[in-house]
Amino acid sequence: SDVYRAGISGTRPLVPVDADALERSARGALSAEAFAYIAGGAGAERTVAANRAAFGRLQVWPRVLRDVSDRDLSVDFLGVRRPAPLLLAPLGVMEMAHADADLAVARAAAALGIPYTLSNQASFPMEQVRDAAPAGARLFQLYWSASHELNASLLRRAEASGCEAIVITLDTHLLGWRTRDLDLAYVPFTRGMGIAQYTSDPVFRRLVRERTSGVRSHADAPPPVRITPKAVLAGMSIARGGAPLTGSRSLRQNLRSPLPRAAVETFLDVFSTPALTWDDLAKAREWTRLPILLKGVVHPDDAARALDAGVDGIWISNHGGRQIDQSVPTLDVLPAIAERVAGRVPIVFDSGVRQGSDAFIALALGATVVALGRPYAYGLGIAGEAGVREVVRNVLAELDITLGLSGHTTIGDVGADALRAV
Ligand code: FNR
Repeated sequence: SDVYRAGISGTRPLVPVDADALERSARGALSAEAFAYIAGGAGAERTVAANRAAFGRLQVWPRVLRDVSDRDLSVDFLGVRRPAPLLLAPLGVMEMAHADADLAVARAAAALGIPYTLSNQASFPMEQVRDAAPAGARLFQLYWSASHELNASLLRRAEASGCEAIVITLDTHLLGWRTRDLDLAYVPFTRGMGIAQYTSDPVFRRLVRERTSGVRSHADAPPPVRITPKAVLAGMSIARGGAPLTGSRSLRQNLRSPLPRAAVETFLDVFSTPALTWDDLAKAREWTRLPILLKGVVHPDDAARALDAGVDGIWISNHGGRQIDQSVPTLDVLPAIAERVAGRVPIVFDSGVRQGSDAFIALALGATVVALGRPYAYGLGIAGEAGVREVVRNVLAELDITLGLSGHTTIGDVGADALRAV
């Protein structure tokens, strides 16, 4: 009702309420590169569309004349009662959207009591994000790097900085074929963005020092624009052989100083880990006592395997359609995975959630909590911390209204019988 009252009192919304209008507004507010990076998907972006289309195949089937005056959105997640079944998904390189990036997102999430999953590719070190919103619930998302020492160090820091759980993202062992980014020469990593978690890490710094002090000094070498298999796999496809980036700065200027350049190159050395297998997972257990969630699970057999491996949560995601073109939409596989998990561990669901009624549908199909991705990045780009807050608040408000209008008072009440397949 606060959202309506604000409207009645004449307070103008900061961000458009409609999801498509929000995206359009962000397109106007962001640089071409930032919008391409956030909105874009893999290949012809058929997975991005399929994620949305899957919601269109389900309808909410309301029941009437049930007292729904007292509604409660709270759920248990990782042993804590949370005010709502919503998380913020990890989004890297948010400095492209707003200078305050993760600091603004952490503050907005904390203000609403929504847990924030901090990305391994965040723009600020995790300790600084904690300091920006010390009371906020945070999870840390790890990209398993080729350096085990670095993985262990990142997890140690996550634990020390008060993160509640580790989310290991498994669908990005190679970076997806992102057409929009490739057309714009993949700005983020070539400008050394999104590596703050690494450059603030003592192990990573040592790796960089070893690289620069050794025979492999690149201080006077040509800029690293060769299209090596590694560079392509890491998404650093400078497809035009070192032509200047869009905008006024060339790659050579951006990485002129040898240290940042060595940092970016060290990052590229360790980022891509296609050799990772289930056997490696056991190491994560040695590195941390925190609960471990696996993000990027889309096959029921993998969910079962994850349970056998003793994980503490399954995060169903296809990375918002950014990794494989024409991949399975996550909503379609949610029921089968929920059946295999059978309530033994929590299920986080993402990819395609744009509004409260989407969250309702995913929760009805068995998600424990739903994670929001692109919409909050748009809010950040349009209006910073307040924009993120407003986007999340709108999703929560519509979820609450859908809960009540469909004849339910708690999230636990909502099951598959609240839906009808089209
Ligand atoms: C992501 N995603 C992501 N996931 C992850 O594990 N680590 C990361 O650093 C990022 N970075 C990232 C940046 C941007 C701009 C986007 C849009 C996405 C994936 C993210 O966590 C989530 O899975 C998707 O955003 C969900 O899809 P929708 O809802 O955004 O379509």
